[in-house]
Amino acid sequence: MNPGTVMNTETQTQELWQRRLQLFPITAEVRPSPRDGSPALTVGGCDLDALAHEYGTPLYCFDAATLDAAAEQYRRSLAAHYPGRAAVTYAGKAFFCKAIAQWTQRQGFWLDCTGAGEIGVAVAAGVPRQRILVHGVNKSDEDLDAALRHGEIIVVDNLAELYRIAGRTPALAELPDLWIRVRPGVAVDTHAYRQTGQEDSKFGMSPLEAMEAVRFCRAQGLPLTGLHFHQGSHFHDPAPVGPALDTVLDLVAEMASATGWQPASLSPGGGWGVPYHEDDLPHPDVDAYVAFVAQRVAAGCAERGLELPALHLEPGRSLVARAGVALYRTGGEKQSATRRWLPIDGGLADNPRPALYGARYSALPVRAPQRPVADAAWIAGPFCESGDVLIEALPLPALEPGEVLAVPVSGAYHLAMQSNYNGARKPAVLWLADGAAHVIQRRETIADLVARDADLPG
Ligand SMILES: Cc1ncc(COP(=O)(O)O)c(C=O)c1O
Repeated sequence: MNPGTVMNTETQTQELWQRRLQLFPITAEVRPSPRDGSPALTVGGCDLDALAHEYGTPLYCFDAATLDAAAEQYRRSLAAHYPGRAAVTYAGKAFFCKAIAQWTQRQGFWLDCTGAGEIGVAVAAGVPRQRILVHGVNKSDEDLDAALRHGEIIVVDNLAELYRIAGRTPALAELPDLWIRVRPGVAVDTHAYRQTGQEDSKFGMSPLEAMEAVRFCRAQGLPLTGLHFHQGSHFHDPAPVGPALDTVLDLVAEMASATGWQPASLSPGGGWGVPYHEDDLPHPDVDAYVAFVAQRVAAGCAERGLELPALHLEPGRSLVARAGVALYRTGGEKQSATRRWLPIDGGLADNPRPALYGARYSALPVRAPQRPVADAAWIAGPFCESGDVLIEALPLPALEPGEVLAVPVSGAYHLAMQSNYNGARKPAVLWLADGAAHVIQRRETIADLVARDADLPG
C-alpha cells in the first residue's frame, strides 16, 4: 500500500470518528482508561465501559450537562426573540420518569403530560399543578378526571371532549384553563407517521370546529385561554410553521370579530429535529427555529391588529435526545452472503424507532473508538423479528465479542416506547453529572415481569 493511501485512510478515520463524537453529549471525551490507559469514551466524566460493567447492558445514560445546555438554549433564544412573553413546556412523551419531571421544574419549564399515567408520575415527582399541561387525542374519563384534578391547562382535542369536560365540572370555578388544539391543515416535512398538522390528521379540531368551541366556551363561561397546534415531530426546516401560523392567526382574527375572544396564549407545539447520524451534520440550530417562529407570530399579530399572545414552545426531542446514550454489549460477528452482522444485546425492545420509521443511527465502540473502520456492519438486536436491526450498513472497526458499543442520540422516544418483547427487561437509566452516575430507573427484573400475572384458575 502506498504511504499516501495510508495517510488518506487515517485522515478519513479521524474525520469519521470526530464527526460521530459530535453526536454524543457535549461532555463526551476520549480519555485514557483508568483500567489500562487505552483510549476510552467518557460522558459526564464517567467511563462508559466501566458503567456498562457495573450496571449491565443494555444501559441508558443521560448527561445532565447536555440537558441543561439544551434547556438554556431554548431560554436564551426565547428571551432574545420573544422577550418577556414566552414559556417552554417539555413534552413528556419524549422521555418520562420522575427524575426528568423534576429536572423540568429546576429549569422553570411547564410539563406536558399525556393522560392519567404521566400525570400520576408528575404528581409523584412533586410537580405542582401550576406547571402541568395535559394533552391527549382521545382522553378517557380517567384522563380527564386526572387532568381536572392536577392540571393547570387542558389542551382540548375535539368538541366531544369539550362537552364532556363541561359535563364533568359542575363547579366551574375549579376548572383548569382550556386551550383548543387546532388542525392547521399543514404538516411539517417528516416521516408520515410523525406528521400531525395535516388536514386529514387524527389530531385536533378543524378551524370550523375550533370556532364552535370558542362559541361554546363563551356561552358556558368556560375558562378558554389558549390555542394550540402541532404539525409533527422531527423536522429541520421551520418554513411550514409559517403558513400554519397564518391559518391560525386568520382564525384568531375571525374569532375576535365573531366572539370578541382572543387567546392569551398561543402554542405552535414542538417537533424541532436533531441530527442522529454523522450524515445529518451540520444541523440547523434551535435558535434559527425559535427566531423564525417568534418573528412570524409577532409580524402576523401586528398585520392583523391582534394582541400579542404569550408564546409556548413544546419541545421534547430537541431537549433530551442528545443527552441520551445507549450502551450495548456485542456478541460474535457473523458473515452472511452479503452482510457483516454485528449482534448486540438490545434493539427493538428498547428502541423501536428503526423498525417504526426506518430511523438511522450511528455508533462508536467505547474502547479505542478511533480505531480504523473495517467494513460496514449491520447491527442487529436479539429479538425474534427480522426487522430488529438497530443500524444498517455502518462502517465500524472489527469488534471483539463482549465489547461495548455506544449509540448516541438515544434520549428521545426510545425508553418512552420500549416493550417487554421476548421477555426483555427494561434497562437501567443513569443520570451522569460531574463524574458520578446515579440510577434514576433501575433495571427491570424477572420478578417485575410476573408481578402483574395471576395463576390460571382451577
Ligand atoms: C402535542 C405535541 N407537542 C409536542 C410534541 C413534541 O415533539 P418533539 O419531541 O418532536 O419536540 C409532540 C410529539 O409528538 C406532540 O404531539
